[in-house]
Amino acid sequence: MPKTEPTSIAGQVAEARQCLAAAGIESAGLEARLLVGHLLCMDSASMIAHGDRALSVEQVAAIRHLVGLRAAGRPIAYLLGRREFWSLPLRVDERCLIPRPETELLVERALERLPDRPARAMDLGTGSGAIILALAVERPQLAAWGSDASAGALAVAADNAQRLGLTIHWFRGRWLDAVAPRPLFDIIVSNPPYVDPSDPHLEHGDLRFEPRAALVAGDGGLADLATIAGQSRARLYPGGWLLLEHGYDQSAAVRALLVQQGFLEVASHRDPAGHERVTEGRCPG
Ligand SMILES: C[S@@+](CC[C@H](N)C(=O)[O-])C[C@H]1O[C@@H](n2cnc3c(N)ncnc32)[C@H](O)[C@@H]1O
Repeated sequence: MPKTEPTSIAGQVAEARQCLAAAGIESAGLEARLLVGHLLCMDSASMIAHGDRALSVEQVAAIRHLVGLRAAGRPIAYLLGRREFWSLPLRVDERCLIPRPETELLVERALERLPDRPARAMDLGTGSGAIILALAVERPQLAAWGSDASAGALAVAADNAQRLGLTIHWFRGRWLDAVAPRPLFDIIVSNPPYVDPSDPHLEHGDLRFEPRAALVAGDGGLADLATIAGQSRARLYPGGWLLLEHGYDQSAAVRALLVQQGFLEVASHRDPAGHERVTEGRCPG
């Protein structure tokens, strides 16, 4: 078997895999190919076909730098600048939360609750725009709104909408204060920050690199969920729905918040791992 040159494409993939595996990254082989391919703008098939191609000193240095960042824990989604959500290729960077597969449950539930006619939906704390973009793709007739307190996150969301050719009304501000008292919505969805600031998970994995304001909330993680539950009833049409994502151990508390605000048909739904992660309620009327 011919020897692989360390500065060839195949050599750099092998070196990256070794470095990532040594750093404890589970899918080291896959991530090595993704990172090298990202820098060389090549897919896996062409990297294999041209594995013995020699790389320049600058290319090798750039690959080693990127792989070093990943080995130090920086999320692969930020390094690649993309993450798939609901089969949509979304751009992401350090200004927004990396969309999670669990959040697809919120999209599924919202699609169940959207009326079968042109409707108006609001996504509070939109981040990369993941939730409202998924809803807008599924329901082309939807009048879609998204808000966030972070100008950086909104810029990412607007860029994603433009790339996908979708029109969303973006607003910056604190939850529903971001938009005028009218219009009313048929559905309000939100995946707000819900991690307790003292939660040790914040010091592990991707969470270390994501915006703190996208993750943590006071009152044991319930403060923003309570604010949204409090603001939403007056902003929904009678019969409209509020759907909230929350932590795996917060469902009882969130159901209580919704009941306290007078929502009806309050219920929680389980994600594929069996955890109650989405709670919904219907506005009376
Ligand atoms: C958990 S992230 C969710 C992002 C996105 N919806 C998703 O599911 O991937 C929460 C989002 O809420 C935003 N946020 C935090 N505090 C806020 C506030 N007071 N008003 C509006 N948005 C806020 C953050 O900037 C962040 O984008």
